[in-house]
Amino acid sequence: MKPKVLITRAIFPEVVEELSRRLDVEHNADDRPWPPEELARRLQGKEAAMATVMDRFDDPILAQCPELKVIANIAVGYNNIDVPACTKRGIRVTNTPGVLDDTTADLTWSLLMAAARRIAEGDAYVRRGDWKIAFGVQYFLGQDIHHATLGIIGMGRIGRAIARRALGFDMRVLYHNRSRLDDAEERGLNATWVERDRLLAESDFVIVMAPYSPATHHLIGAAEIAKMKPTAVLVNSARGGVVDDAALAAALKAKRIAAAGLDVFENEPRIHPELLSLRNVVMTPHIGSASRATRLTMCRTAAENITAVLEGREPPNPVNPQ
Ligand code: GLV
Repeated sequence: MKPKVLITRAIFPEVVEELSRRLDVEHNADDRPWPPEELARRLQGKEAAMATVMDRFDDPILAQCPELKVIANIAVGYNNIDVPACTKRGIRVTNTPGVLDDTTADLTWSLLMAAARRIAEGDAYVRRGDWKIAFGVQYFLGQDIHHATLGIIGMGRIGRAIARRALGFDMRVLYHNRSRLDDAEERGLNATWVERDRLLAESDFVIVMAPYSPATHHLIGAAEIAKMKPTAVLVNSARGGVVDDAALAAALKAKRIAAAGLDVFENEPRIHPELLSLRNVVMTPHIGSASRATRLTMCRTAAENITAVLEGREPPNPVNPQ
């Protein structure tokens, strides 16, 4: 009898096939997210779950799944999982760090550039048929990216990939992180560690790249936005809740800051209604790591983590100890 694994969403058929050689796989091919009761029901008898950031694994669910040995998130973040509860119950939690850094940095830059140069606004204008006079000296004026100051809050792997891209734009890079990079890395990225308030006050672009936890809840709220330049652009492609969306919407509406680029939101997919009516925000539906190659690698990484745990080996990407 092969061990049973549940894949909670539709993934790549080749990964389902690869896993099916060793495991008995139940796969949510419909891609309709399962409510918690259905997730718990389908987890019965399963030793492994391959999950997404939408699947909540809290203690009451875990309590119903005594056979579960591993939850492999197809994500670098794992704030959908109560990790201490998993540890207490002997369930390994794994994630997919590293493989999505460049893809997520690319998307973050796409949002930064789209917000700075008003790309989505211009696209909507052209499509609406409002473009009647071919050229205007004052049409769609935006912010310069080159030679501007970029502030990165959270200088982990993705933050550093974002900073590397800034070298090509001749930017001044400030960063804030609990721990400082070593001197050689700071020099290589041309990045300077500063206190958060100084970063907020001096940056033309502020990118927040911190994982979500109670400690980072509303890391950027009204008080932090008030410290930013009126011409500044804020980008959040980290996690909903790291930015206070209501405070951001109010600041964008009042032109307290110039613009924002958002890939993640509090209460996804329900977006703060005020954000939807603003022109100075560009939004994407949580697609930071969504290139075909990267998502395939993430699924394969999650599969490797599951196979390792079920074969009694240490998984390549453990989040909690055994
Ligand atoms: C996606 O949001 C991730 O954490 O990888």
